[in-house]
Formats: sequence, structure tokens, C-alpha cells
Amino acid sequence: AIQGFIFDLDGVLTDTAEWHYRAWQRLADEEGLPFNREANEALRGVSRRESLLHIIGDQPYSEAALQTMMERKNRYYVESIQNLTPQDVLPGVIELLDELRQAGIKIAIGSASKNARTVIEKLGLADRVDAIADGYSVERPKPAPDLFLYAAAQLGLDPSHCVVVEDAAAGIEAAIAAGMWTIGLAPAVSGASPEEHRVGAAHIVLPNLMGVHLTDLQ
Ligand code: G6P
Ligand code: MG
Repeated sequence: AIQGFIFDLDGVLTDTAEWHYRAWQRLADEEGLPFNREANEALRGVSRRESLLHIIGDQPYSEAALQTMMERKNRYYVESIQNLTPQDVLPGVIELLDELRQAGIKIAIGSASKNARTVIEKLGLADRVDAIADGYSVERPKPAPDLFLYAAAQLGLDPSHCVVVEDAAAGIEAAIAAGMWTIGLAPAVSGASPEEHRVGAAHIVLPNLMGVHLTDLQ
């Protein structure tokens, strides 16, 4: 039976994926690098460094330049999350977290972000989670299974008893590699959209967490 839920953060519990995108767009614009919303789809759930490498393509930047660009992007992002409040928790999240706790299911956050703790605090979710695995927890980023395995270990659970909720392809891949059950979140759209493809490998695909109950998932 399911004993633990591991939630990705950006794009699952709150819409910070948008703020990550805007920070990268600002950096790319300043650097004169081609980038847009569509190109950003490939960066969903991808680590800070891998995201930057993707944006610069084959431009020859020094390591020092890469470092300052990553710091700059992070500065823009950190600025934009200052005003996050509990109002920014996505619909259905609180209800599901409460239901899981009631049912005795352990809850962890599994986010690649080094800003995850700040975001969780600002959203007022700290008391609702049992463990946080973030951008400081492991070396290898998603799609490696490491972050989710770390989260399961923090909860004291076997991976096969855990469910991961993700909005990114790299995250679903990581969860499957960890031997966990997966719920992919993708906005409902007609036809074969990129959004559907993103989490197409998940065991269950849902538009969001609104009205989602544990009983439906079991
Ligand atoms: C999450 C987000 C990505 C972000 C990564 C690193 O996976 O979905 O967009 O690049 O975390 O976040 P950080 O805040 O450490 O730059
Ligand atoms: Mg995400």
C-alpha cells in the first residue's frame, strides 16, 4: 500500500515555474541569447546549471561567466518570490495534503531548487510536510533517481511504497528510475500537446490537484 507522497514544488504546489521562466527570459534578453516560452518547456524541472547550458547552446562562455549568470538569474528569481503568500498555493493542494496526513501517509517535498525551503515557508506549507529534499540534498539532478530516493529515505519508506507528483518529464523519469508510482500534472488541452507529452510516461496524468482524493488514486 502507499505510505508516502513526494511532491515536486515548482509547477505542482505553486506556480513558481512561471517565475523561473521569467528570470531566465530576462537573463537571456540581457545576454542577447535566443529564448522564449516554447524553448522554456525543455527547462521545466531542470537544474539551474543544466538550464543555463541549454540556453547558451554552443556559445563559448567561461566557467566564471557561467557562475555569474547563474547568480544573476537566481537574484531575479529570488526577487520575484519575495511576495509569495499562502494564496499562491495551487487549488486542491491543501485539501490533498490534509487528507494524506489524516490517512497517516508521510509527505515529502522533492524539488531540485535551492530556493525550495524559502518557497515552502512563504507558502505556509512547512508544517504540512515531514521532509524536504531540495537542491542541496544530492549531487545528481533529475532525471537521476537520487533526489526522490533521498526523500523516501528521509521518510523512512521503501521507494515502492511512494507516489511522486510531478509536472516535468525529467521528474517523472527520475521517479520511475527510483521505482516509485507517478502522477503527472499537465493542463487539460485538446490534441497531442507538448504539455501532455511532458508527463506522458506517468502512471496517471491529471490536469492539476483540484478535487483529487486519495481514494480515487488508490
Ligand atoms: C526546479 C525548477 C527548475 C529550476 C530548478 C533549480 O526543478 O523546476 O526550473 O531550474 O528547480 O532551482 P534553483 O532555484 O536552485 O535555481
Ligand atoms: Mg516542477
